[in-house]
Amino acid sequence: MKPSVLITKRVYPEAVELLRERYEVDYEATDDGLSAEQLVERLRGKQAVMSQLTDKFNREVIARLEGLKIIANVAVGYDNVDVAAATEAGILVSNTPDVLTDSTADLAFALLLATARRIVEGHAFVHSGRWKKWAIDLMVGLDVHHKTLGIIGFGRIGQAVGRRARGFSMRVLYHDAVRAPAEVERELGAEAADFETLLAESDFVSLHVPLTASTRHLIGPGELRRMKRTAILVNTSRGPVVDEAALAEALHQGVIAGAGLDVFEREPEVHPGLLNLPQAVLAPHIGSATIETRRKMCLMAAENVLAAIEGRRPPNLVNPELWERRARG
Ligand code: GLV
Repeated sequence: MKPSVLITKRVYPEAVELLRERYEVDYEATDDGLSAEQLVERLRGKQAVMSQLTDKFNREVIARLEGLKIIANVAVGYDNVDVAAATEAGILVSNTPDVLTDSTADLAFALLLATARRIVEGHAFVHSGRWKKWAIDLMVGLDVHHKTLGIIGFGRIGQAVGRRARGFSMRVLYHDAVRAPAEVERELGAEAADFETLLAESDFVSLHVPLTASTRHLIGPGELRRMKRTAILVNTSRGPVVDEAALAEALHQGVIAGAGLDVFEREPEVHPGLLNLPQAVLAPHIGSATIETRRKMCLMAAENVLAAIEGRRPPNLVNPELWERRARG
């Protein structure tokens, strides 16, 4: 009998074809996703699942899975999977790093520019036919060039944002638990800063941390108050890294000047205080959403599935210790 794989939501067809060449594929070709109950039901007797960030593999769900070899997430983030529970249950977990680094950094920079230069407001103004004359202070925004960018989380995507900032002659500060190698700091002209200094000195603060217990609400009322009144916050990481209610309040009170957000605490819900606020530029979680990148992500996840089923080490494991433990016997 051929091994059998579940694809929980619509993906690019090349990835489905790749898996169908070798396996039985149960393809939920919709954008709705599956409930916890449906996931458990549909995973009976299957060896692998290609999942997305909206699929919740929590400890309770994982405890009910039998014989599953891999959860191959089509995303770089994997906070939707309880990796510790998966590891205990002997299930490999993989993600899709690298291929989306530049696309996500581009989007972070696009949000930064759009917020600072009021592009979305200007666009709506022109489209509405309200533009009647040029004026000296029409849609004036804030300079980006030569300003200070504070990057919180200086991994692949954070560094790629820093690389873009160099082209805008920005001063780049970063904060991360791990100090970047000296050559990276040199190449990007980036300075390590403690969290407080970064918040106080940055004109733009861009978030690039994974969502974990320690990064949940990393930016709350206190942190927003420590930022400049002219500062703009950019979030392309995960919504719960920011206390969204506190951010909405801060924008209404003028505690900071603006926010460019691609992610939200309860997607697709958005805090009502952020809606219809011109200084909040909002995108529907599209950091990696280019045709090229999303296709690569789907194929990468499929490759991880192939490897796990064929007994090879999946290239993008997030719990490699499980593989290594097995290799040691
Ligand atoms: C998207 O948010 C991802 O983690 O890839």
